[in-house]
Amino acid sequence: MQQSHLNSVNETDNIKLAIIAPDGREGMFMHARECAEARIPFLFDPGQGLPMFTGDELLDFIDKADYLAVNQYEAQLLQEKTNLTLEVLASRVKALVATKGAKGSTIYTNGQRIEISCVQADALVDPTGCGDAYRAGLLYGITRGWDWKKCGQLAAVMGAIKIASRGGQNHRPDRAEIADRYEKAFNEKIDLS
Ligand SMILES: Nc1ncnc2c1ncn2[C@@H]1O[C@H](COP(=O)(O)OP(=O)(O)OP(=O)(O)O)[C@@H](O)[C@H]1O
Ligand SMILES: [Mg+2]
Repeated sequence: MQQSHLNSVNETDNIKLAIIAPDGREGMFMHARECAEARIPFLFDPGQGLPMFTGDELLDFIDKADYLAVNQYEAQLLQEKTNLTLEVLASRVKALVATKGAKGSTIYTNGQRIEISCVQADALVDPTGCGDAYRAGLLYGITRGWDWKKCGQLAAVMGAIKIASRGGQNHRPDRAEIADRYEKAFNEKIDLS
């Protein structure tokens, strides 16, 4: 991770969407700057990297980002560091997504709050990686141009599937299983083809 600044965003063509998640400090700055210059929308996911940055540095990332995602602890720390509330921070991006573990998640967008409920898991085996699984669903929905409720609901399904298996991301659900879980949880059809 400390070598991440050796990878440049500019080495890859046709990037439609990026995520800037915990990485080397220098790499995170560089990738945010490169995405902004190339007009590549990105989700800023400071995660456990949050303590590396000052409030002003975090605001600089947020102003470059289209989307921001944090868990409950990170939301608290981000508000303390920037001296801004989640509502105010949300007004600086297209959407701010705050996950709340078993209490689900809230998506702040367009001056509104969309509450996404948690999906019932088959078993509570290992919560590590729920945040990443959730983000996978979110990014998938964003690339498809879905509305925020649908993006958040798919994200919640991915989090619930994750928690039932051990390890960060060792599980391999297929599209049919994910669609089935989504349809059962939310009583709506979803096309993942
Ligand atoms: N007990 C649970 N049952 C079902 N879904 C869950 C549960 N815990 C978390 N999730 C889902 O996963 C999402 C992300 O969880 P959480 O807020 O705990 O992320 P996190 O703290 O970033 O996790 P990580 O440990 O991966 O960093 C939640 O919003 C929820 O949709
Ligand atoms: Mg996390």
